[in-house]
Amino acid sequence: MLTAIAVFVSGGGTNLQALIDAQHKGILKSGELRLVVSDNKDAYALERARNNGIEAVVVRKKKAETQTEYEDRLIGLLHEKKIDMVILAGFMRILTEHFTSAFADRMINVHPSLIPSFCGKGYYGLHVHEKALEYGVKVTGATVHYVNEIPDGGRIILQKAVEVEEGDTPEILQRRVMEQAEWKILPKAAEMVARKLREDKEG
Ligand code: GAR
Repeated sequence: MLTAIAVFVSGGGTNLQALIDAQHKGILKSGELRLVVSDNKDAYALERARNNGIEAVVVRKKKAETQTEYEDRLIGLLHEKKIDMVILAGFMRILTEHFTSAFADRMINVHPSLIPSFCGKGYYGLHVHEKALEYGVKVTGATVHYVNEIPDGGRIILQKAVEVEEGDTPEILQRRVMEQAEWKILPKAAEMVARKLREDKEG
């Protein structure tokens, strides 16, 4: 049985697109993209999912609910949809141990730097590249790692380095890191983990 995957997104969803393309090309073959969850109703990632026949839902934190109650709603949804594995692909909300322990060793994240540089609380999206340029590093990259209760602190699965070039802006660097690293290592790592979970399930 294929590993049922949910992808969590907040924005444009180019990493989701890389996963969809990998599924079509047979690179992601041990898992099936079954659900996309967004905390932002305007995320273009939702369109990408729907255009590819993947169920897409918006789950926003309500003002009246606690983080734990919000995470319980997410966990309930994933159980209802029989999801085995979660991929955070540009999901901009930090999940606490309550959620991460429910998907221990079954949840991965893509981060746009070489962890342990430029990661942790406050390091997300374009900010990561701003910080890398500010510091003046000559090499950056991307990391795919398991998710635990420490932001960007779980075991590393794959990393890929990318050169910083003269005249880079955060936007230019972000695009190069996506093209040369994220869109390559995320589908690869997703297949590695999906295959492992499939083998575990089949015994
Ligand atoms: C990606 O660069 C991803 O690595 C980053 O946000 C971007 C989302 O783009 N994620 C983080 O910074 C998480 N800490 P996308 O919506 O086009 O995939």
